[in-house]
Amino acid sequence: MKILFVCLGNICRSPSAEAIMKFLVEQEGLSSKISCDSAGTIGFHAGSPADARMQSHAIRRTYDLTSKSRRFNPEIDFDKFDLVIGMDDQNIHDLQIMDSYRKYQDNVFSMTEFCTTHQESEVPDPYYGGDAGFELVLDIIEDGCRGLLEKIRKEL
Ligand code: 4NP
Repeated sequence: MKILFVCLGNICRSPSAEAIMKFLVEQEGLSSKISCDSAGTIGFHAGSPADARMQSHAIRRTYDLTSKSRRFNPEIDFDKFDLVIGMDDQNIHDLQIMDSYRKYQDNVFSMTEFCTTHQESEVPDPYYGGDAGFELVLDIIEDGCRGLLEKIRKEL
């Protein structure tokens, strides 16, 4: 099972989702069965590490954000990944536009679909906000990743 988390810049939300899901997958001893990666719908930050604010919030919860930003590549990534999980509605919309023949529409999901505690319909973009926004991102993604892993475990 290959999972790709997608946000806009691939420096805040999707690197966090990648690290959190990897942490949970390792904790459950499923690393040989489930792999995780992340990408952004824009390439503006390509090659950059995760946003320093996001990193500092994540490390307080023991998540080490090590990924480098890259742009989602529709020619490769739709085929390569079983699940493509967007963080907000714009990400989903952008992914749908790149899937022009709707070949992969059943593989595209929203992170919040897997939440069991949080009611939000999106993982809000924290980039122009303050500390609370970064904490909320981690809260929602932790909830969503737990739900996602539970769902995958039932199917594996
Ligand atoms: P992300 O956050 O999509 O969660 O990585 C953002 C990163 C960069 C920008 C916006 C959101 N930006 O405008 O450059």
